[in-house]
Amino acid sequence: ADRSEPVADARSESARKIKIGIYFATWWSLNVVFNIYNKKVLNAYPYPWLTSTLSLAAGSLIMLVSWALRIAETPKTDLEFWKSLFPVAVAHTIGHVAATVSMSKVAVSFTHIIKSGEPAFSVLVSRFILGETFPPAVYLSLIPIIGGCGLSALTELNFNMIVALNHVVSGYLRLLVDSEGFCLLVCFFMSMSKGFMGAMISNLAFVFRNIFSKKGMKGKSVSGMNYYACLSMLSLVILTPFAIAVEGPQMWAAGFQQAFSDIGPQIVWWMAAQSVFYHLYNQVSYMSLDEISPLTFSIGNTMKRISVIVSSIIIFQTPVQPVNALGAAIAVLGTFLYSQNYPPLCKEVKTGEARKLQLK
Ligand code: 3PG
Repeated sequence: ADRSEPVADARSESARKIKIGIYFATWWSLNVVFNIYNKKVLNAYPYPWLTSTLSLAAGSLIMLVSWALRIAETPKTDLEFWKSLFPVAVAHTIGHVAATVSMSKVAVSFTHIIKSGEPAFSVLVSRFILGETFPPAVYLSLIPIIGGCGLSALTELNFNMIVALNHVVSGYLRLLVDSEGFCLLVCFFMSMSKGFMGAMISNLAFVFRNIFSKKGMKGKSVSGMNYYACLSMLSLVILTPFAIAVEGPQMWAAGFQQAFSDIGPQIVWWMAAQSVFYHLYNQVSYMSLDEISPLTFSIGNTMKRISVIVSSIIIFQTPVQPVNALGAAIAVLGTFLYSQNYPPLCKEVKTGEARKLQLK
């Protein structure tokens, strides 16, 4: 029996790796679809507070129906659970709205480049707030991961930079002759800063969300899929009054009339698709967070952006530069180095220093 134990351990370890691999592939694929519809919707109907609310509402509805039909097991929760979920839901709400506002203001690739820095936020929060440290090799592997992801999105960013520069120069020139130029400049800088700040706020908020979600799921009966379902519902309750205050039904109705006359009934399907896929990809991401550390989750989230960039290049037929492919390769290599230096990527390490590294 003694000799068969390591064999059984190795088998269950490989089964776990395969399971995590499937979760990651599903999470990333669903996110690609979400990104496409999200941008289509925001271009035609630029109300990020409403679209953020709708995606939480769709998720809540899907899960309530799944519980009622017993497709998913209804979680047993108490007041204590909802109380401890509250700060996590606040972080989820802030991170979600901030990212959507960012995407509504700038090109998707710009938001993704800033958001590729999430692992850096994760190690900073772990270090300075939780007092947790990682081996130097882990910190070093973040450089190729974040840098490579940035490089892989550079072409589109370059293009956007040219458009941006055009705005600045023409705004400046017009400033010399009229006040319209001044407004153009102010609007441009406001959009860029909202795009940048939104993505940065989202990074910080999601890192807190991930760390506290992980702690909230650890050893509890509510985990993965149901934890995210409850998170969606509480976030919906938190977000709705703010969405009404910031945008409101009047703006939504007027914007919808416009979008409907521009796009036609398809706009409804786009909105439905972005909402449903938002819920699905997040749900699967939470099923993997249940298995991995928050830092590994953030790295998975950064690598996900490469799959978004690659697929948008294929779908929108953006010309690719060698630097983009090189960036993607560097990021993949960085992730490999990370997985070699940070065992909890796929393994439950039970002893010494490594145990301390694990937030599980
Ligand atoms: C959101 O609305 O939550 C963002 O669009 C997605 O952020 P993520 O890519 O980190 O999930």
